[in-house]
Amino acid sequence: MTARIRPVNLDQFAECLPGLASLLTDAVNTGASLGFWMPMSQADAVLYWREVLQDMVHERLVLLVAEDAGEVVGSVQLVLSDRQNGHHRAEIRKLMVRTTHRGHGLGRALLSAAHVEASYRGRGLLILDTRTGDAGERLYESMGYTRAGEIPGYTIEPDGARHGTTIFYHLLR
Ligand SMILES: CC(C)(COP(=O)(O)OP(=O)(O)OC[C@H]1O[C@@H](n2cnc3c(N)ncnc32)[C@H](O)[C@@H]1OP(=O)(O)O)[C@@H](O)C(=O)NCCC(=O)NCCS
Repeated sequence: MTARIRPVNLDQFAECLPGLASLLTDAVNTGASLGFWMPMSQADAVLYWREVLQDMVHERLVLLVAEDAGEVVGSVQLVLSDRQNGHHRAEIRKLMVRTTHRGHGLGRALLSAAHVEASYRGRGLLILDTRTGDAGERLYESMGYTRAGEIPGYTIEPDGARHGTTIFYHLLR
């Protein structure tokens, strides 16, 4: 696999949109905890990505995508705090890799690319949360993230089942 990771600028967003929507539905409809219940339609995913575009327009969000043979196979977002006291921090959001491309180091590469982007923008403090027990926890710990704590029952499923979320932070050197 020879995926290439790049930031998406506003002019390139429209061409990436179908691939981004497909990436999100693939993840949600195979059980990933990304804020949505399955089944997720392509139309709902497009609506979500249009919200992301608004944050990009306001320069609050940097979107990175991984592409393989012209297809979007992964993405991660860096959400820049716009608080006066928060110009040194950012949130890592919605790291995801297409199911067909998992287990080959792409998640780790996307996170590394987000770190480079954060560093370039002077955002040395990174925070994120992930469903307790998910694969993301091992990835974040192996990338130097510190577990700040767990909030039990943070998310709720259609059947009423609740899951905890684990909050991590990382100081870039
Ligand atoms: C989490 C995710 C992005 C990892 O992507 P990936 O490309 O498969 O990850 P990598 O191949 O780079 O693996 C990096 C590390 O993640 C961990 N990991 C990946 N898949 C795992 C699994 N199925 N079980 C446990 N740990 C796993 C391992 O620590 C792995 O390191 P190793 O290969 O040295 O053991 C991917 O599983 C995904 O998109 N999941 C759905 C969305 C999601 O839950 N995102 C995180 C929430 S914010």
